[in-house]
Amino acid sequence: MTARVFSGIQPTHGLHLGNYLGAIRQWVRLQDDGRYECIYCIVDQHALTTLQKREDMRAHTYEVAAALLACGIDPERAILFVQSQVPEHAMLHWVLGCVTPLGWLNRMVQFKEKAGKDREGAPLGLYAYPVLQAADILAYKAVLVPVGEDQKQHLELARDIAGAFNRKFGTDLFPLPEPLILPEAARIMSLRDGTRKMSKSDASDMSRINLTDDADTIALKIRRAKSDSTLGIWYDPETRPEASNLLTIYAALAERPRSEVEEEFRSASFSAFKARLTELAVTKLAPISARMRELLADRPMLDRVLARGAERARAIARPVVEEVYGAVGFLGAGGERERS
Ligand code: TYM
Repeated sequence: MTARVFSGIQPTHGLHLGNYLGAIRQWVRLQDDGRYECIYCIVDQHALTTLQKREDMRAHTYEVAAALLACGIDPERAILFVQSQVPEHAMLHWVLGCVTPLGWLNRMVQFKEKAGKDREGAPLGLYAYPVLQAADILAYKAVLVPVGEDQKQHLELARDIAGAFNRKFGTDLFPLPEPLILPEAARIMSLRDGTRKMSKSDASDMSRINLTDDADTIALKIRRAKSDSTLGIWYDPETRPEASNLLTIYAALAERPRSEVEEEFRSASFSAFKARLTELAVTKLAPISARMRELLADRPMLDRVLARGAERARAIARPVVEEVYGAVGFLGAGGERERS
């Protein structure tokens, strides 16, 4: 049996280099490997937890779909779809919420960060976010989940929830999912502060390279990226977080070992290194953004791809949810007679 892979991405703003190097490139590799059944989801219901305007939600959903296709996701070989078009995620979310203790959710770092000081004012959806994430994965009984390092805690929770369900209902219905984190690009940091991760929610656009940035913008952002005054470039995230981050980005884009890149730039000046990094980033990213623009111009085509993806995803998730309903004692769509 081929192992099933699942991963998701939120349609909040467009995608950035961290998403690409930390997650999407892995998604494409797993798809191209041929040994896995890959299911990739644009998680708009998760994005609703940090409420955006309706128009932005729609635009970002199309933008992320176009970006994923432009990065090499092939809807013939992977299932690509939008979460809200497959209601089984929300259905399973409820059931899983009933086996998840509040104490587990209280430990979630992302909730604490996003809710900030106003915990009482934070929406329930933000708190329940990781339960929906577990439902995404478990609705497909997926076992491998390619993500960046920031998702590790949510993945551990998804395993715990799967285990809690199995124990409570005396079943082995859910396999325990494993995160798949690429060590060399697990955490791409901000261009303005090498101790913070590159993020869609950073107020400064100069902190990240977006997949839609043109060559001039990429060049400007790299030129302005924070540097330090030491001569030579080497990897030491403790004392030189910015140099280390740029080196990591270079190695990941060039698909070369970091040690080899470090050797090459050990005595280079920051400006010489940045010039080379710009050249590399533009070469790698320009074709993606050009392709993305072409795809975005054809929304009917994107709608067709996503509708077909949702249909294929549902064909897998529906029987799993029926099985879950049976395990907990719900009558389900067909009642008991049909299931037995
Ligand atoms: P999201 O939308 O924030 O990010 C999508 C993917 O990009 C990775 N990533 C990074 N990797 C390296 N460096 C960075 N600076 C960086 N920033 C983002 C993320 O780790 C992620 O893999 N909760 C998830 C979405 C989700 C999901 C799921 C993931 C919903 N359901 C089920 C896996 C399985 C999220 O917010 O990702």
